[in-house]
Amino acid sequence: MHIRPCTDDDRTGVIALWERVFPDDPPHNAPPKMLDAKLVANDGLLFVAADADTVVGTAMAGYDGHRGWLYTVAVSPERRRRGVGTALVHHAVAALRAMGCTKVNLQVRATNAAVVEFYESLGFEVEERVSMGMRIGDLTQKMGFKPSGP
Ligand SMILES: CC(C)(COP(=O)(O)OP(=O)(O)OC[C@H]1O[C@@H](n2cnc3c(N)ncnc32)[C@H](O)[C@@H]1OP(=O)(O)O)[C@@H](O)C(=O)NCCC(=O)NCCS
Repeated sequence: MHIRPCTDDDRTGVIALWERVFPDDPPHNAPPKMLDAKLVANDGLLFVAADADTVVGTAMAGYDGHRGWLYTVAVSPERRRRGVGTALVHHAVAALRAMGCTKVNLQVRATNAAVVEFYESLGFEVEERVSMGMRIGDLTQKMGFKPSGP
């Protein structure tokens, strides 16, 4: 098993893994859509753990010049509890650090206690924050927003 940046050749394996590991994700997180958007971004921050040609894990990172973020840390169910998730997070964090990133954030569903334990085992801490978000496609309806700019 080794960890490397995702390439177009990993597309089928990554989509299959995400469909299996995140079956309840909403349509805007449909695996093909998410994967293609990240590959188009071409920032080298989507990593796969591969055993020969088989994708057994993923970790997506993002860096905006201020904070780093982690998303879609996922390991095939039959490969869990063998350090693959840890290795993926270490790899992604090392890549962020190399870009000058000094803090990494992530979001976990409040019901996902096991994943909180996983991240705590890696040194992450639960921080007292209110997480907010808005789907930008809803702006016009919600705020009478008139787009300007690019
Ligand atoms: C979370 C996940 C990535 C962990 O992958 P993994 O390869 O099993 O993790 P590791 O083997 O590196 O685990 C390291 C440590 O984390 C903790 N841990 C991992 N899974 C855990 C679980 N289900 N419950 C409690 N603690 C857990 C343990 O301390 C573990 O060490 P140990 O096995 O020596 O006890 C994997 O369970 C997964 O894909 N879950 C579903 C996807 C998901 O919800 N991802 C997070 C949202 S982005």
